[in-house]
Amino acid sequence: MSLQNIVLIGFMGTGKSSIGRLLAGKLRYQFLDTDRLIIEHAGMNIPEIFARHGEAHFRDLESALLESLKGKSSRVMATGGGIVVREGNRPLLRELGFVVALTASEEVLFKRVSRNTNRPLLQTENPRETLRTMFAQRRDLYNEVAQVTIDTTDLTQEEVAQSILQHASTVISSKPSL
Ligand code: S3P
Repeated sequence: MSLQNIVLIGFMGTGKSSIGRLLAGKLRYQFLDTDRLIIEHAGMNIPEIFARHGEAHFRDLESALLESLKGKSSRVMATGGGIVVREGNRPLLRELGFVVALTASEEVLFKRVSRNTNRPLLQTENPRETLRTMFAQRRDLYNEVAQVTIDTTDLTQEEVAQSILQHASTVISSKPSL
């Protein structure tokens, strides 16, 4: 592995951002979040980007952003849940670093995503069913891209971070503060 980054992928509500932040603190790495960077760059939030320009445009921004991250190191990168959908993004994610997929039971995911309304793809008549369908469509993609998949259903954020550190220990040379 040439680059020392940890890349977190996984469905909405798997905890990529909060666990990523926690992990970055432990490793003394910089934390970045692709959604956050897109929002800053576009000057609008995600529902606005989807409403004004559509999902395809958002995916273009996401792919361009991933490209621009090549060459970065010592980062924990949290990514949007749909980043694996574009085929071209998948090798790119692997190129960026050690890829960890976070997952959880559908029930837990639904509970977590129900807390806010900033995910346009789940603003449907039956969000529970939409989540189920999308999750079924994407699950294999997350597993295919990731070096390791961690089920967060029954774990605390601290436990997830520790598990990632253990899995990544072969590629991370700096001493994490445990
Ligand atoms: C999306 C997930 C979101 C965000 C956008 C689309 C998806 O990110 O990128 O709403 O297609 O799953 P989170 O996984 O951080 O919620």
